[in-house]
Amino acid sequence: MNAPFAATGRLHGMVAEIHARLQAVTEGAVATYIPALAAVPPELFGIAVLTADGAFAEAGDTRARFTIQSVSKPFTYALALDLLGRQAMRQAVGVQPMAEAFNALVLEPGRNRPFNPMVNAGAIAVAGQLCQALGATAFEQVRACLSAAAGRQLDLDEDVYRSEAETGHRNRALAHLLHGAGVFRVPAEEAVDLYFRQCALAVTARDLAVMGATMANIGTNPLTGAEVFGLDAVRDTLSVMFTCGLYDGAGDWICRVGVPAKSGVGGGLVAVVNRLLGIGVFSPRVDAAGNPVRGLRACEALAEDLGLHLFEAGNPGSRLLPLLAR
Ligand code: DON
Repeated sequence: MNAPFAATGRLHGMVAEIHARLQAVTEGAVATYIPALAAVPPELFGIAVLTADGAFAEAGDTRARFTIQSVSKPFTYALALDLLGRQAMRQAVGVQPMAEAFNALVLEPGRNRPFNPMVNAGAIAVAGQLCQALGATAFEQVRACLSAAAGRQLDLDEDVYRSEAETGHRNRALAHLLHGAGVFRVPAEEAVDLYFRQCALAVTARDLAVMGATMANIGTNPLTGAEVFGLDAVRDTLSVMFTCGLYDGAGDWICRVGVPAKSGVGGGLVAVVNRLLGIGVFSPRVDAAGNPVRGLRACEALAEDLGLHLFEAGNPGSRLLPLLAR
C-alpha cells in the first residue's frame, strides 16, 4: 500500500490537468439559505482520488475545510442499515427516486415514509431512527462512524450548525411531518437536531475521497483498515446513491457519469466506483438543484478519461489500471 496521500504519478497528472481546465468555470452560486455558508470563498476548488488499494492523487484546495451537508446522508444511512437492518429501515424510508427538489415536503404516495434517504425528508427519517436506537449518544456515534470512514476525527463546525439550527424551519417542518406520520417516535426536534449536526461536520476533499474509497472497498477504509460498514449496508447505500444521490439531476448524472455519488450544498461531492476508487471534490458554487457545478464536471471528466461509467464497454476503470502500473 502507498503511504497515505503520496501522489501516484500519472493519475496525479490527469487529476491536475482536469483541475486546471475547470478552474475557470464560475457557473452556479454559493448557497446562502444557511446564512453561515455565504462566507465560504467561492473560488476554492479541490479534487482528490483514492483507489481501494491506497493509490492517491489530488489537485487544488484538497485540504480546505467545508461542511459536509448532504454528503453525510449516505453514510448515516449505511450506519442505520448496519444497526437496524434493511427491513426496519425500509419501513422508515423508501428507495425510490423523487423528481422534486431535495427539500420538498412530500412523502411517497400511499406510504407514510419519504421517497429515499438522499433527500432531506429521508435523511431526517434516518436521523430519527438513529436517535431512537442510540439515544443521547446518537451524534457522537454518527461522528465516530463518519470519522472512521474518513480515517481521522471530524469536528463540528459550530457556526454552521448554529446558523442552520436557527433558520432551518423547512427541515423542522419535515421532522414534524415525519413524526406525525409515525416514521420515528423521538421528538421531531431531537431528530432534526441530529440532522443539523451531521450536516455541519467539517471535512475536506481528501476526507471525501477516503470516505468514498471506504464505500468502494466494501466498507473497509483502505488507509486505516477499519471495517466501517457491512457489505449489505454498502450495497443498499450505493444503490440509492446511484439512483437518487443527485436529486432531480440524478437521471442526467447517471447517463453522463454513471457511478453512485452524493452532493452537498456546502460544495462537497463524493463519487464511488465500486471496488475501484473514491472521488472527493470541493467547489462551493452550486447549481439550481444544489449540486456543485465544478464537482459534477470534474467527475464527468474523470469518468470519461478513466472509463468509470458502470456500463462502460470494457470493465469500469479499464483505463485507470495502466496509469497505476509501475
Ligand atoms: O438540510 C439542508 O438544507 C442542508 N443541511 C443540506 C442540504 C444539502 O446539502 C443539499 N444538497 N446538495
